[in-house]
Amino acid sequence: SEAACLSIVVLGASGDLAKKKTFPALFKLYRQGFLQSHEVYIFGYARTKISDDDLRDRIRGYLTPNKNAAEGHTEDATKFLQLIKYVCGAYDTEEGFQCLDKEISEYEISKKSIEGSSRRLFYLALPPSVYPPVCKMIRTCCMNKSDLGGWTRIVVEKPFGKDLESAERLSNQIGELFEEPQIYRIDHYLGKELVQNLLVLRFANRFFLPSWNHDNISSVQIVFREDIGTEGRGGYFDEYGIIRDIIQNHLLQVLCLVAMEKPVSLKPEHIRDEKVKVLQSVAPIKDEEVVLGQYDGYLDDPTVPDGSNTPTFATIVLRIHNERWEGVPFVLKAGKALASRKAEIRIQFKEVPGDIFKSQKQGRNELVIRLQPSEAMYMKLTVKQPGLKMATIQSELDLSYGQRYQDVTIPEAYERLILDTIRGDQQHFVRRDELKVAWEIFTPLLHRIDKGEFKSVPYKPGSRGPDKADELLKEVGYVPTQGYIWIPPTL
Ligand code: BG6
Repeated sequence: SEAACLSIVVLGASGDLAKKKTFPALFKLYRQGFLQSHEVYIFGYARTKISDDDLRDRIRGYLTPNKNAAEGHTEDATKFLQLIKYVCGAYDTEEGFQCLDKEISEYEISKKSIEGSSRRLFYLALPPSVYPPVCKMIRTCCMNKSDLGGWTRIVVEKPFGKDLESAERLSNQIGELFEEPQIYRIDHYLGKELVQNLLVLRFANRFFLPSWNHDNISSVQIVFREDIGTEGRGGYFDEYGIIRDIIQNHLLQVLCLVAMEKPVSLKPEHIRDEKVKVLQSVAPIKDEEVVLGQYDGYLDDPTVPDGSNTPTFATIVLRIHNERWEGVPFVLKAGKALASRKAEIRIQFKEVPGDIFKSQKQGRNELVIRLQPSEAMYMKLTVKQPGLKMATIQSELDLSYGQRYQDVTIPEAYERLILDTIRGDQQHFVRRDELKVAWEIFTPLLHRIDKGEFKSVPYKPGSRGPDKADELLKEVGYVPTQGYIWIPPTL
């Protein structure tokens, strides 16, 4: 039975990811009743020698209320923190993990009067360099031992390697210890509301079925902008760069959902099969369809090595070589230290053939899916300007979530994804073969950047990024709208 005894183990419990994302997400689930105190226990594991209460105190400040925080928040936080027990140990020796197993087993035995199955979820909030030893230790010391059912699952997060070869090595090492259905590779973009909506939007609406192809669509942009630099993370970031940090995972996952064919069914394997296929259809990246940038001041960060060529901005055009998308550029763009913080998908349609209004138009049809902030979807279209004159104007059909779904709190990505790991639903997780193709696409370019053969051009912090990126966008056929901007509705 799935009813009782769930142990959630957060490895790297005192680290940044655990404090900022994992524990707050667990708390949100707890508050909504998905983690009940009679059936769940949380273990924090790390090397630092601290007490249960020390860990609780470190976490407490991050369990901040969301904007509609209900009453009882502080009391709930206290109750939640009581569910957390800390175990201290190394990541590569059996001692600590035996101790962890003993704690988990004791907790399970104490619950056996109710139900005998045991579910063990290991969340690796750790750098990938220790994934192999940690997985080995879990496998050796901490697996679910109940004959009455249950499971052992591990949750891991990027960076999964630095290129195809290192990623495959890591996949092999983990793959020798765990079966694919036990491995949950998180890409938190797959937990965002409007990313999850893509499948519904595309396949549940007659509007879009016939128009979603190269006959009608002229370009697709998938854009991530951040208005902060690499503050405090320069050391990590410089080793990876914007392509490995954002494009190869988050934006590429979004591309899959925009571009893939209709899955046979909603089963996770059917969906992931289609994602793999569309990735396999991506043609090699061309140098002239790449612009790399680095913001002025990046090198001043003391954790960044002098003269680093690491891009903090990139525009990369991907071409999908299949019947649906021949000729349509998929422009993936990501940057740090830009003018705004925004993530969106922008699908621009072609001109109307034989258009009798052409001379008066402000722009083409676009469907924009705003992932964040302020989730929204809007379609830019030309209408008659209201009034006596026969003139056209650009307008929009707008579905802004804040306005349309006023009573709904949109769940955080991590909250949703952790719930999926408990429920055993892998739909929103990256399968091993998907990861491999994702690396195949970017590895040749990444190697050239690492060798200094492909240079980043400087750009001003707080700008749109290098001018060359906008030029490339125009070259591949994007036509900006003139004299119109979408204004999100205010409540
Ligand atoms: C992380 C990247 O995966 O995603 C960060 O490592 C980035 O560099 C973050 O800031 C962005 O996530 P979100 O959910 O704020 O868009």
